[in-house]
Amino acid sequence: MKSIVVVGAQWGDEGKGKVVDYLAASFDYIARCAGGHNAGHTVIYNDSRFVLQLIPCGILRPGKHAVIGSGVVVDPAALAAELDTLAKSGIDVTGRLHLSNRAHLIFPYHRQMEKAAEAARGAGKIGTTSRGIGPAYEDKMARHGIRVGDLLNSERFREKLERVISEKDAVCRATYGVPLDTAGLAEQYLALGERIRPLIGDSSELINDALDAGKSVLFEGAQGTMLDIDFGTYPFVTSSNAISGGACTGLGVGPTRINAVAGVTKAYTTRVGSGPFPTEMPDLEATELRARGKEYGAVTGRPRRCGWLDLAELRYAVRINGITSLVVTKLDVFDTQKEIQVCTGYRYKGTPLKEMPAAAEDLAEVTPEYRTLPGWQSDTYGVQDAAKLPRAATDYLKFIADFLGVEIGMISTGPERDATIVCAGTELASWI
Ligand code: GDP
Ligand code: IMO
Ligand code: MG
Repeated sequence: MKSIVVVGAQWGDEGKGKVVDYLAASFDYIARCAGGHNAGHTVIYNDSRFVLQLIPCGILRPGKHAVIGSGVVVDPAALAAELDTLAKSGIDVTGRLHLSNRAHLIFPYHRQMEKAAEAARGAGKIGTTSRGIGPAYEDKMARHGIRVGDLLNSERFREKLERVISEKDAVCRATYGVPLDTAGLAEQYLALGERIRPLIGDSSELINDALDAGKSVLFEGAQGTMLDIDFGTYPFVTSSNAISGGACTGLGVGPTRINAVAGVTKAYTTRVGSGPFPTEMPDLEATELRARGKEYGAVTGRPRRCGWLDLAELRYAVRINGITSLVVTKLDVFDTQKEIQVCTGYRYKGTPLKEMPAAAEDLAEVTPEYRTLPGWQSDTYGVQDAAKLPRAATDYLKFIADFLGVEIGMISTGPERDATIVCAGTELASWI
């Protein structure tokens, strides 16, 4: 049995898309288990750039199967648009893309309610991606969500939608003073349902059968550990389980069927949206790093907040996810850096903290403790062999691995598929 979770170890955008695309060559099934089209996973190869939001990156590899699991929230219009984009690039998904009948649907009213809720929060807003993700998960948990499988029975779908709409319209008017805009919704969704009908099935059965048959599975994480609904910087998080455990609940696969967890981290840290970020850099430094790392949201185009690598945060991510190997991306972005700061712990009101504070308010007040390491000030862009990295880069990576007590199995030195180092002798290398 060969199955691995690839999880974001920070606040998302760690380069999971690039890493999953690379690893996908060695796996038969690539499956998404959480989030929705709030994710933006960038893959670059043969001079083409793809940003996948709902469909797992494995779809770009001929012959591989891509699965959208029950833990994902699906906007069928967004899915159709993504399918169109892939078709335009000549990527045939026939028989290779699978969508869980248990996944919950996102409706336009979810986006409308999210917009109203964010506006009502004012300065305390979460800074969401405005895709309706939160309200769709709210409906799921409140047990009045509508699922992908419901699209296959028009009568049942109409009944459910009607009931939900009347409830939501009343809430929307009472809470935000606006009516719900639902004209033509049932017809639009049923038409989209017809389009995606061939994709819909039981994805848990599919994955478990595949594992039984000796096939390999890669679980493609979305978002990141610190955006997890339970373990992230609540309430400045997304609304799903972005941690490795989400692979079990979001795909119907038992924990005993997962062999390894690869945690993806940048050589530094970024975050989009509001919320505490202890190692955030002052404006000027952040602006420089943002320019070098092209740190703008793949989905929303928003400038990403930039900061130093935070080993206190990563230590927490290693524990929460059971990370067995680390993948460090964007090493090349530090090529011109004279000195590199790395956070090795936090102080709260003068006292060293051993653990990640549970409250976002407390995390916002910690003072990071830094170690300064020398930069390498030479070119690592596109390097494929660890032995060719400058000494200071190797030392930086060793410092990270030693501190966390976890191997670094892969290093990314550019956005392109082949700008990748697989570290010989590591557990991760044995999976490739
Ligand atoms: P994801 O959400 O974790 O898949 O990450 P995103 O795709 O949102 O953001 C990562 C960005 O960094 C994308 O633009 C990638 O093309 C780019 N990227 C990934 N790895 C590297 C790398 O090693 N070096 C550089 N310079 N860019 C990278
Ligand atoms: P990938 O998979 C980075 C952030 C949003 C916001 C918070 C809640 O590309 O790493 P939501 O729309 O989910 O309710 O927004 O979560 N966020 C992400 N940040 N990468 C992502 O995905 C994200 N998905 C959500 O910016 O702060
Ligand atoms: Mg992204």
